Amino acid sequence: MNPDLSKLQPYPFEKLAKLKGAVTPPADLEHIALSIGEPKHPAPEFVLNTLRTELQRVENYPTTKGLPELNSTIASWLERRFSLEHVDPVSQVIPVNGTREAIFAFTQAAVNRSEYRPLVVSPNPFYQIYEGAAYLSGAEPHFLPCLEENGFNPDFDAVPTDVWQRCQLLFVCTPGNPTGSTLKLDDFKKLIELADEHDFILASDECYSEIYVDGADAPMGLLEACAKLGRHDYKRCVVFHSLSKRSNLPGLRSGFIAGDADLLKPFLLYRTYHGCAMPVHTQLASITAWNDEEHVIANRVEYTQKFRSVLEILNPVLDVKQTEASFYLWPRTPINEETFAQQLFAQQNVTVLPGSYLSRTVDGINPGADRIRMALVAETSECIEAARRIRSFIETL
Ligand SMILES: Cc1ncc(COP(=O)(O)O)c(C=O)c1O
Repeated sequence: MNPDLSKLQPYPFEKLAKLKGAVTPPADLEHIALSIGEPKHPAPEFVLNTLRTELQRVENYPTTKGLPELNSTIASWLERRFSLEHVDPVSQVIPVNGTREAIFAFTQAAVNRSEYRPLVVSPNPFYQIYEGAAYLSGAEPHFLPCLEENGFNPDFDAVPTDVWQRCQLLFVCTPGNPTGSTLKLDDFKKLIELADEHDFILASDECYSEIYVDGADAPMGLLEACAKLGRHDYKRCVVFHSLSKRSNLPGLRSGFIAGDADLLKPFLLYRTYHGCAMPVHTQLASITAWNDEEHVIANRVEYTQKFRSVLEILNPVLDVKQTEASFYLWPRTPINEETFAQQLFAQQNVTVLPGSYLSRTVDGINPGADRIRMALVAETSECIEAARRIRSFIETL
């Protein structure tokens, strides 16, 4: 087997299961999980109806490039959401089976192993797929710490030139998992200039772009930044979007990649061989989801209320702030994050994820140390109950 497989780390939830396995939670308290980033709000009924009525389409092989009506629906959504002049549905959009597989697959297609020690650069903490995808593509991951003093975004100015020279693919995650931080026009401008200067691909994972505080400005996306800078061909730039969080459809496995046609053409060729076309009924259901914003707004309102209630309970006892976007909180813990998570589970039957399970130690610094990730995905009443229990736990420390 491929020896690079041995470089893959155990997934954070394996580590968490081991940590929790060492203790026993109280039997009289229901378990509440704030550890997994899986939306729990109900899926839109109209999407499920389309899935049911189109099920017969399993009789057809789907095409990798997507149904023309799905691609044009996505192109129109992008134009509306990010104020873009034009997105070509044929050459600038490919539907994908969730962004997880697309991020992994794109990395395999993007990295040129014949160049000197290729790097895939990513934030730290980070969505774990960036690292595994880098290793299996024959590149090395290079992590940029996302610290509070820099608004939880990487300090791109601090990156040495030799890293940019070896960088072939830079992942940004905006809004970020787990920090909820977002990149602004100036950040994107800097990154695009660096990508041009050092000839790398800029890939923006934007799967939380629709989960932001109700009434606040919607987070900017990379293609939007391109358009504002007059870069209407989106050269060197791609974005990943998903219905998983936006529409509470994590099991539908539906998202897309969009951007530079010169990158998507070879990626489409890769995908044809990889064999990852989206089933036709999933494509048809996805069209209905991308065409509707009402359910997305309702979703946002619910998250906003949840954040408000939970923060009200936790603020007096925990160093925790409203994140700019996403459904995560990323508080600093008063004790070591693993001990915190383990003891919280042991005493209150609430599961949170130690921040260090999502990050790596580089030059002696682990940006996930003394932090936990809380995903406010459960029902509001459950999140409030979890917050109360976390508060009680902290008060015992
Ligand atoms: C930052 C980030 N990117 C991508 C994904 C993958 O989402 P999906 O494959 O459901 O589109 C996730 C899922 O949790 C995520 O947190």
